Amino acid sequence: MGSSSWPNSGPSSGRPRHKAEPSEGASGRPIVLEIKNLGFHYSGGGPVLQGINLRIAERERVGIVGQNGAGKTTLLLHLNGILTGTGGVVVRGMEVTRGNLRSVRRQVGLVFQNPDDQLFLPRVFDDVAFGPLNLGLPREEVRARVERALEAVGMQGSMDRSTVQLSEGEKKRVALATVLAYDPSILIFDEPTANLDPKQRRNLLEWMRRSEKTLIVASHDLDFVADLADRVIVLQGGRVVADGPPEGILGDGALMERCGLERPRGLGRETTRLR
Ligand SMILES: Nc1ncnc2c1ncn2[C@@H]1O[C@H](COP(=O)(O)OP(=O)(O)O)[C@@H](O)[C@H]1O
Ligand SMILES: [Mg+2]
Repeated sequence: MGSSSWPNSGPSSGRPRHKAEPSEGASGRPIVLEIKNLGFHYSGGGPVLQGINLRIAERERVGIVGQNGAGKTTLLLHLNGILTGTGGVVVRGMEVTRGNLRSVRRQVGLVFQNPDDQLFLPRVFDDVAFGPLNLGLPREEVRARVERALEAVGMQGSMDRSTVQLSEGEKKRVALATVLAYDPSILIFDEPTANLDPKQRRNLLEWMRRSEKTLIVASHDLDFVADLADRVIVLQGGRVVADGPPEGILGDGALMERCGLERPRGLGRETTRLR
């Protein structure tokens, strides 16, 4: 990933001006995402999400962890209205409903676990330009955004490449660029480090740490979460069972074990050193 900073990544970018800011979180920053008593089940199945209540403030970096099947992906899919359950999701004061998905998705960008779910056009340029074109931006602006987005993920010069011929790591980076190109203020990542090599993983971590956006990252990679997040939420059986600072949550061996997780190596070392 390139080291260039992403333009317009400031906290206020893209905020609808006519709306009053929702109330403030503990950080003193406005709440940009609120999940209210969310419940969901897939058709024919039992409950997958139950009674989820969360408030996420602007520029928070939230890690969502939990063993396989805990409901992480299902929760993320509610945050930009791909799925809708009972209860509600509010993005910058806007209730997520079928009628305002366009406005919601301008604010919330979801990077799927599998880049093949994100990339659907034959050429890299077309995939990355899709979002900005949908925003109705002029042609030159679309091209400039595509260039910047590809540069931000270290894929400059790949505009004319065929999407299907990219390596897995390249696909993941282009998938991220498709979201960056429409410049949402809230970025959501599902298992972003899956299939990345160590260098790509480190570059992604550094990129996220430089970002001024609100970040929500669901991951099995607890070391990555420990290095990035300032808040960790543990899901188990579709419920939030813990929510707090990374040291308190990921460093709690008993909690981690109850939830089928392992304490990150980095934190373990830290705890040992402190003793
Ligand atoms: N499309 C689907 N249809 C039916 N059940 C699903 C579907 N996707 C996920 N599930 C079920 O929902 C539960 C939560 O899955 P998921 O949200 O993928 O969890 P996680 O991302 O934490 O592994 C699991 O029991 C899973 O089998
Ligand atoms: Mg998942």
